[in-house]
Amino acid sequence: TQGWRASLLWFPDSQIPQARHESDGLLVTAREADGIVRIQAIGPYRDLAAQHPDLPTTHWPGLCIAPGFVDLHIHYPQTDVIGSPADGLLPWLEHYTFPHEKQFSDPAYAHEVSAFFLDELMRHGVTTALCFATAHSESVDAFMAEAQKRRLRMVTGKVLQDRHSPDGLRDTDTALSLHQTEELIRRWHGVDRLGYAITPRFAPTSSDAQLHGAGEIAQQFPDVWIQSHVAENVDEIRWVQELFPQARSYLDVYDRAGLLRQRSVYAHCIYLDEADRHRMAEVGATAAVSPTSNLFLGSGFFDYLASDAAGLRYGLASDVGGGTSFSPFQTMHAAYTVARQNVGRPGISLAPEHLWWQHTAGAAAALDLDGQVGNLLPGCEADFVVLNPNATALLARRTAQTETLAEWLFAMIVLGDERLIAHTVVQGQSVSDNKP
Ligand code: GUN
Ligand code: FE
Repeated sequence: TQGWRASLLWFPDSQIPQARHESDGLLVTAREADGIVRIQAIGPYRDLAAQHPDLPTTHWPGLCIAPGFVDLHIHYPQTDVIGSPADGLLPWLEHYTFPHEKQFSDPAYAHEVSAFFLDELMRHGVTTALCFATAHSESVDAFMAEAQKRRLRMVTGKVLQDRHSPDGLRDTDTALSLHQTEELIRRWHGVDRLGYAITPRFAPTSSDAQLHGAGEIAQQFPDVWIQSHVAENVDEIRWVQELFPQARSYLDVYDRAGLLRQRSVYAHCIYLDEADRHRMAEVGATAAVSPTSNLFLGSGFFDYLASDAAGLRYGLASDVGGGTSFSPFQTMHAAYTVARQNVGRPGISLAPEHLWWQHTAGAAAALDLDGQVGNLLPGCEADFVVLNPNATALLARRTAQTETLAEWLFAMIVLGDERLIAHTVVQGQSVSDNKP
């Protein structure tokens, strides 16, 4: 059993985007019988310390313990694609992303990139991610092994893409691609803190047979995740209409294949219609909002008002390498900017607590992992960040002059980068220290 004393930021109800801040708090963690370190208690130091005498306690005066960030959609094989300029999504895939991803058939290369990627995530305070691998089984084995070594809670899957993709990345045998998916589920899903996601890349690069095969596997394994892309870009949507004339909408292609359900996470969801949003809400599917990617690729703007009206649940994602940063602060800042810009009608000003929630407890809820990650409530796994609001001269000046929690959080969202993450703690162990 261990104690951690600092100021604390958390969400008293994981489902509600209202944060609580305790200026002198204590977090108590302990390793439980299953080997996982979980939070046992959280509250004011003066109340809790008396109940836990002789608790070995790390004290961080002036710093703030907050939940580890959860990234709902990211591609580890695109770490070295970030910032590749292109005239929109489809040329970007063709000229940069697809050629680059071919390299992940090499296990040594996949291990090297996985290791760098996971360390980079932790340096930025991200402790759980729903992550794309590539079409190569080796890319999943490498990522899972590196995540396991770091004791991280990570979810990934082999990308399914059996058409409109180059040699070396395309599944040349659809049945084999589905067999590999099942094999990888059996090898990795539920091992330590790892989870598997059935991962059709997007409708244009899968045959109807591959999509339906993926849907059948999903039915067989109800607690694995499903991840894909939907309604990101106008040229992409036009292409889907040509390829699947019988579908009512782009989203409907996935629905008909049995790929829309609880634990399915769809990146972007920009150009959904009302029926799509209601359908996702009805089945418990969720949206991974990826604002830095949408701005970089010129894809469009996620519609927060329409999503809230339909009850569509969502959380934040970097979408590296269409996205431009691993930093949750950059992503939250971009989400704020996007919400302000809703085209053709007044935008909304997302509250900083709501932005923070979308990248922690809200993202965890979208993954069906609320109460497990993304928060500091008792029972949550002990993955957290330690913020240093004095990390830079500008941050120190700015945060010192804030009067409310909202102002303080906004200052960090707008000015923060990885220097603000003094420590990242995974399973009760400090794994990343950013020296000021
Ligand atoms: N749609 C299909 N593949 C991708 C990808 O790798 N990134 C993004 N942003 N969209 C996609
Ligand atoms: Fe993506």
